[in-house]
Order: sequence, then C-alpha cells, then structure tokens
Amino acid sequence: MAKLIVLPKLSIVMKEGTIIKWYFKEGDHVNVGDILYDVESGKTGGSAECDTEGTILKIIAGAGKKVKCGDAVAVIGAVGEDFESLIPKEEEKAEENVKKTSVAVIGGGPGGYVAAIRAAQLGADVTLIEKRHIGGTCLNEGCIPTKALLHSAEIFNTAKNSESIGVISNPKIDFTKVIENKNNVVKRLVNGINILLKSNGVKVIYGEASFIDKNTASIKTDSGNQEFRADKFIISTGSVPTNVPIKGIDSKQCIDSTGALSLDKLPKSMAVIGGGVIGVEMATVYSFLGTKVTVVEMLPRLVINMDKNMADIAEKSLIKSGADIKTSTKVISIEDRGDMAAVTVEKDGKTDTFEAEKVLVCIGRKPLIDGLNLEAAGVNVENGAIKANDRMETNISSIYAIGDCIGGTMLAHIASMQGETAAENIMGMDSRYDEKTNPTCVYTSPEMASVGYSEESAKKAGISYTVGYFDLAGNGKAIILNGGEGFVKIIAHSRSKKILGMQIIGPRATDLITEGALAIKMGAGLEDIANTIHSHPTVSEATREAALSALGRAIHG
Ligand code: FAD
Ligand code: NAI
Repeated sequence: MAKLIVLPKLSIVMKEGTIIKWYFKEGDHVNVGDILYDVESGKTGGSAECDTEGTILKIIAGAGKKVKCGDAVAVIGAVGEDFESLIPKEEEKAEENVKKTSVAVIGGGPGGYVAAIRAAQLGADVTLIEKRHIGGTCLNEGCIPTKALLHSAEIFNTAKNSESIGVISNPKIDFTKVIENKNNVVKRLVNGINILLKSNGVKVIYGEASFIDKNTASIKTDSGNQEFRADKFIISTGSVPTNVPIKGIDSKQCIDSTGALSLDKLPKSMAVIGGGVIGVEMATVYSFLGTKVTVVEMLPRLVINMDKNMADIAEKSLIKSGADIKTSTKVISIEDRGDMAAVTVEKDGKTDTFEAEKVLVCIGRKPLIDGLNLEAAGVNVENGAIKANDRMETNISSIYAIGDCIGGTMLAHIASMQGETAAENIMGMDSRYDEKTNPTCVYTSPEMASVGYSEESAKKAGISYTVGYFDLAGNGKAIILNGGEGFVKIIAHSRSKKILGMQIIGPRATDLITEGALAIKMGAGLEDIANTIHSHPTVSEATREAALSALGRAIHG
C-alpha cells in the first residue's frame, strides 16, 4: 500500500531542512536502507534512508525545497496504485502570511554571499544581485586561484630542491594543467556556493544594480532593466585595482592580478610593479615556476604592513628562488618593444632599464562604488569608500555596507564577518564587527601571518609590552618541513600578560595564527597558552615556546 515518506528529524535540534539532492527519480524502485536524498538543516545536515520497499510514485519536495520535520517529501508504493488522496493539500500556512523582511544584497563575493546566507538563516526573504560571478574577487580572481597556483608552484619548487631529503626528481611544468587545475578548484567552490545559496532559499538575480532611492534599485540584466524594492540593502560591491599614471602602463604586456591568473603560457620573464601582498605572492608563484621575476617596490622593503623581520625572510626566499628585488625604486616608464616591454626604473636618482615579457601591476586596490548611484539613496562616501560603522550601518537606515567597498583592510574574512554582522543587525540582533581578532596572512614560502599588535605598532601606540620569541630552528616539525626557517613572536601586555598580538613566519603560519586570534578574543594571557598542551611534533609547539619565553621559562629556546 502506498506510503507517505516524511522528513525525519536527523538531530535533536532539527525542526526543518532543505532537500539538497535526490538520488532517485519518480518511477525508480527503492529498497529499505537506500539513501533517498541529502538534506541540510542550518549548519548541519545528513542523508535520509528509505524505510519502505517500492516504487517512488511522487516526489513532493524536490531539491531546493524547505520542509518541516514530519512533512511529506515523497510517496512510495506499487506502480499504478492511487496515491493522490495521501498528498496533503497545500494549506495556507499561517507563517507564510507573515511578511518577511526583504533583504537585497548587492554583490556576491565573500561579503555578499555570506550576508545573504546569514540573513536567510535568520528568516529574511533574501535576493542576491550579482553582475558577474558568484564568489566575487575572492573565489574567481583572488584568494582561491592565487593559492591554487601557489600550490602547484610550491610542489614544483620543493620537488626540484629535495635531493637533500632523498627525493631525486626532474619535475617539469605543464602550465596548461596548472591553469586547468586552478580553474577546476574555482569551479568546484563556486558551484558549492551556488548550492548553499539555493539551499538557504536565497534568490539570485544576475545583473548590475544601481540605486533609484533608499529602498529601490534598478537592475540592468541581459533581458532589460528591472526595478527592485527591498526593506534593507547590503552593499558588498568589492574593489578593483588602482592605477597610476606611469607612461606606457596601458601597453599590451601590462597585466593586473586577474591577468596573471590566466596566462596562456608561462612567461620567461616578468616585472612585478608593487611589492605588496599581491606582488610577493605572484612573485613566489612565477619565480618558483621558473619565470625570471623582478619586483619593483617604491618603499624601502617588501610587504610594509608585516613585521620587518618576517618581510626580510620572505625577501631572502624570493632571492633564493632567482627573483631580483628592487626596493626604494620607482617605475618611470614602460615601453612596448614587440613581444617584450622595457621597464625603466629610478633609484637614488639613477635610472636603469630592463626587459620583461609581462609587467604585472599590483600597486593596491580601491573600493568599487562607481555606477551604484549612491547619491540617489543619500549614502555618505568618504575618501572613495562607503562610510559604515561597526554594525555595518551607513547613514541611511535601510542601507548597510560591508567588505572591500567600505575601504580599510581588504580581506575576504573581514568581508564575510562584516556580512554576518550586517545580516544579524538587520534581523534584530546587536552584532558588532571587531577588528582586533583579524589575522593578516601572506602566502609566501614560508608563509607569514600576523594578528593584533606587532612590536612596531605596540611601540607606536605607547603600550607597555613584553615579547616572547621562538626560532623555528628549535622546533622539530619545522626542521622536518622547511629546515627550521621562521619564528613565532608573541606580544603581551607587560603587567597583565594578556596577549596583544602574534606574528608567525614558517610552515603553516596562516593556519597557526588562529591561536593568537582566539587568545586575543578570549582575553587569554601568556599562562593560558603556556598551560595548554600543544601536540608533538607540530609547529604549534613553537607558539607555546614563545609564550614560555615571554614568561622567562623557555625549554627549547
Ligand atoms: P568582492 O569579492 O570583490 O565581490 C564583490 C562582488 O560585487 C563582485 O562579484 C562584483 O561583480 C559584484 N558587483 C560589483 N558591483 C556590482 C553592482 N553594481 N551590481 C551587482 N554586483 C556588483 N583576501 C584574503 O583574505 N586572503 C587572500 O588570500 C586574498 N588573496 C587575494 C588575491 C588577489 C589576487 C586579490 C585581488 C585579492 C585577494 N584577497 C584576499 C582580497 C579578497 O579577494 C577581497 O578582500 C574580497 O574578495 C572582498 O570581498 P567582497 O565581498 O567585499 O568583494
Ligand atoms: P598592497 O597595498 O598590498 O601593495 C601595493 C604595493 O605597491 C605597496 O607596497 C606600495 O608601496 C607599492 N607601490 C605603489 N605604487 C607604486 C609604484 N608606482 N611603483 C612601485 N611600487 C608601488 O596592494 P596589492 O598588493 O595590490 O594588494 C591589494 C590588496 O589585495 C591587499 O591590500 C589585500 O587587501 C588584498 N590581498 C590580500 C592577500 C592576502 O590576504 N594574502 C593576497 C593578495 C591581495
């Protein structure tokens, strides 16, 4: 006899779920124990097992549908059996009559898509408007593709230089495959975000939004313009590369970071203008892959926002890989010479010219707010960025702004945290974005990471601090992984011993830094880190040793 299949409770707290994927279709025969479908509920989910043998006569809740536990999702029975009377009538559910807060998010990067999901989790009716691709800069042209290229480059570099650890190989680079792998990683992650948006009930409109007034946007889509009204807007339009008026900067060999992620062949030589974060990461990629890289930085050292000792190690590593580093050097002009560009630079009043097949220009990024028509909504802009407070509110109560478009430090995890903050405030919570636990990571080799105060910034702020230092030459795991190059520094308040900051350069630094961020968040002190058992052998032991050193009780230092 036909039987209704209902959504089971997969955990004690589960009240409802969204069907992600069915493994069978109507007409398929199923057995007891078969996995019928995957379901997601909040941050958890699972798979629903079949408890009846028979034919799927009807799928009531298809993929993407949200259902309450106990509600019908399918009917199973014998072919030809009458089952219509079993299907519950679509009742006017009282809660559906309650008007939900409508939230429109402009921009689908790590700020926007996270804000959209969080707002939907909290019960809003959410629409995400994206003019290009979901995932924004981070997934498509930023964090993820650069790290995928770095992974290939690091493996190649390691394989080439591993004779001393008994690995003798003659690796070669298939650059087409390097790019193909990067594209596949991006595609997989973007698909994942699309599924998450769908399963959370977020509607997506592909088009470019601009404001008509504080509650209305015009969306330019392929099929014409449409007007869109919402109770609240979250602007998350990101950033674009900045440009400088250098003569010849528009010549055909000049590329930006997006261009450097999709070259069709490995260049023999590359000039990198700007030795900031993008500059050193891209220099690492290409130098490791075999390109002759020349970095030109106008300041006296690379990655000026990181601890000087760390920047020195990163510079040494780039030089070791064959790169040429020109600091305190300005680019005067770039000249097109057919397949090559001639780059003229100036240092201490002297000029020099060198040739490069590609010229990567990465001298900073600026908020992307052009075309949003913010004046129509009355949103305040300061120094080219939307002005928002720590609740991510702008001066207009219906409009919030997050991520790169509000300026400041432009990082994906900041955009996401601000996205959650904006969504929570819109939905009635009191949420604040707290900058002090924000880690900055640079994916060079070795990696470097910093959170909170550095020695330099603590000194500048007039804070009375103490430093704990541990050289990775004394850490077993680091010696195995990279010969023990790097260090951990902990900055703590000299009286309270509370952790104020942490800097790490070495293997896995970008993962390890979270211990520092958590310590700052929890108001932990040196003793808390020292009294926490760190597993052996791991690079994380160096963090504990740095805390011990600040307390004057280092064991291995
Ligand atoms: P974005 O990711 O830029 O997303 C904005 C979205 O808005 C875009 O998809 C855009 O198409 C859309 N949009 C813009 N205007 C409109 C409009 N009018 N209507 C509709 N849609 C619109 N950060 C890290 O934390 N770690 C890293 O390792 C890292 N690596 C990076 C490497 C590179 C090469 C670059 C360039 C950046 C990197 N970043 C990294 C920075 C990171 O990518 C950004 O901080 C992050 O993407 C900002 O997120 P967002 O949501 O604010 O903006
Ligand atoms: P950046 O601000 O990090 O570095 C730009 C560098 O260019 C500076 O060192 C500056 O002194 C130099 N410069 C400026 N004008 C110059 C000129 N005319 N000649 C020579 N040098 C010049 O900016 P970048 O590298 O473009 O990155 C932009 C942003 O992207 C970063 O600030 C960061 O927010 C984000 N990003 C983050 C990453 C991460 O978290 N790992 C990786 C890559 C980018």
